[in-house]
Amino acid sequence: MRTPFIAANWKMYKTVHEAVAFVKELRVMAKDVHDVEIVIAPPFTALRAVADAAHASNIGVAAQNLYWEREGAFTGEVSAPMIKEAGAEYVIIGHSERRRLFGDTDQTVNRKLTAALAAHLTAIACIGETLEEREGGQTFAVLDRQLKDGLDGLNADQIAGLVIAYEPVWAIGTGRNATPQQAAEAHGHIRGRLRQWFGGLAADQCHVIYGGSVKPDNARELVSMPDVDGALVGGASLDVRSFFDILTRSRPQAAV
Ligand code: 13P
Repeated sequence: MRTPFIAANWKMYKTVHEAVAFVKELRVMAKDVHDVEIVIAPPFTALRAVADAAHASNIGVAAQNLYWEREGAFTGEVSAPMIKEAGAEYVIIGHSERRRLFGDTDQTVNRKLTAALAAHLTAIACIGETLEEREGGQTFAVLDRQLKDGLDGLNADQIAGLVIAYEPVWAIGTGRNATPQQAAEAHGHIRGRLRQWFGGLAADQCHVIYGGSVKPDNARELVSMPDVDGALVGGASLDVRSFFDILTRSRPQAAV
């Protein structure tokens, strides 16, 4: 049984002050929630402060990106060991905004994943099709390519510890979430490929979470679908009450 995994991707929102205030509030609200893995991904500037505010709590901390070299003349970039040292245990890789705006490709995603794993960070690898690709009947082919190239060279143990976020691009920030059936279909396909390429044990342990217009009022239905192991939440994670409602509604039914 996979523990539900709920992550807040704050994107380029929140100052250090705002981020710390949020985490202080959340840690009190969520102190008894031990059946959901809770992760916050603040901007780099707030990483250390959020890690300190979340210290010794049930809240984990993620970076939103990394560069694959350890150090060097790479102005503006941050490496996996630096992220780890700043107090994060997770990192989001290959978000569609990075693919669309900052040149990430399946090949750079692969290098970033490899660097994250080498630094003992848990990677949250993002994949998903555009509206054009879905309407053109390309969804599974796009997911296959992103998975095959993005996960190239990883072994079954690494896949077991990975989080894959299925984020259909047309559902991100649009208020138009995938239907639970669409999510279940894509997640089932992804898990099937993982089983085929990396074996049953890895496929069963890998978390496959959904992202794209997750809100308190659709979270339970989405996360209760087969093969949907949690959510990567953008806009609705910026308000602490709304994020707390999402993670509460994602708890295994028996606990709620
Ligand atoms: P929204 O929840 O705002 O649609 O964003 C989803 C997302 O991109 C999470 O990474």
